[in-house]
Amino acid sequence: AQVDKAGHRHFMAKEIAEQPSRLTTALNHYLAEDGTFRLPGQGLDFRAMDRLTMVACGTASYACLVAKYWFEQIAGLPVDVDVASEFRYREPPIPPRTAALFVSQSGETADTLAALRYCRDKAATILSVVNVAESSIARESDLALPILAGPEIGVASTKAFSCQLVVLALLALEAGRQRGHMDEATHAERLAALRSIPGLVNHALGLSEASDRVAAKLAEARDILFLGRGRMYPLALEGALKLKEISYIHAEAYASGELKHGPIALVDKSVPVIVMAPHDELFDKTVSNMQEVMARGGQVLLVTDREGANVAAHGVWEMLVLPDVAALWAPILYAVPAQLLAYHTAIAKGTDVDQPRNLAKSVTVE
Ligand code: G6P
Repeated sequence: AQVDKAGHRHFMAKEIAEQPSRLTTALNHYLAEDGTFRLPGQGLDFRAMDRLTMVACGTASYACLVAKYWFEQIAGLPVDVDVASEFRYREPPIPPRTAALFVSQSGETADTLAALRYCRDKAATILSVVNVAESSIARESDLALPILAGPEIGVASTKAFSCQLVVLALLALEAGRQRGHMDEATHAERLAALRSIPGLVNHALGLSEASDRVAAKLAEARDILFLGRGRMYPLALEGALKLKEISYIHAEAYASGELKHGPIALVDKSVPVIVMAPHDELFDKTVSNMQEVMARGGQVLLVTDREGANVAAHGVWEMLVLPDVAALWAPILYAVPAQLLAYHTAIAKGTDVDQPRNLAKSVTVE
């Protein structure tokens, strides 16, 4: 069927706005009425795995990086994450009891598909998280999990990323339950928190105006830094990717703790620094990294929650304040301001939001 912009100026705006309903669809697809997890086919035995290897490209690879934190914390399952173009030629050993998980919106990315075939030849269990259910990657998997985001037209991935995260979050919870890595009460609490994400994402969409205001300034920058720590580090990477893809501004992301090992040399008053930091267990550490930036004249945009805003507002240039969210699932919610900042900065620069130069939606050649 023909997909239209449904009254939005761009497909990207429509796809950002659709997220609450798409996330709800994805959650409902995998959860039965009683909250039990419903996997298609034969199911999946996480106790039979010693290691999970995750492979993807672009935005999907950042979803994998977030999921690494989840699988390791929630399920005690060691995870490797690789970009497919590196993985496929490195001849990585695939020991027994390894499962390989491929994440792809299109399901047709050439490098990801080649990496999948490599793992299949090594007899790994092949799992995939895809948007296009009839794609090559889905067909060649032992178990393909659809994210149900609906067609994504904007080249810069938005709703596919958040839906990938939700499906990976459900998988990590299921892995944790099967492997006995958390008690029933903790499982129930985390699941309830995950179920509240679509509503919170809906609130976060209200930051569009504030993002637009901030974007007017971001659009003047030549370089922008994104900082995050722990689960928010992959979000910083995604924020920087989104921004460079559609606004053509040079943006880089660093794990906040790495700042002092190099990138702080770049900081001066002309460099906006976007800090993605919910008030979680690492917040104080991130704030001290942020203060090092401000001491060198860096203009900090702090993306945080109410508590974070209460304690760390001093000296920052701007803040975007999100609703409170369970720390574990914060990356899903914080994807929204990352998308909105990129979108409004691109509008301010007058670039082609849906069809950025030099980029393809699906890269089916090497
Ligand atoms: C292209 C797109 C990116 C996407 C990447 C992986 O480069 O422009 O937005 O993240 O491919 O695509 P996939 O379909 O495998 O998720």
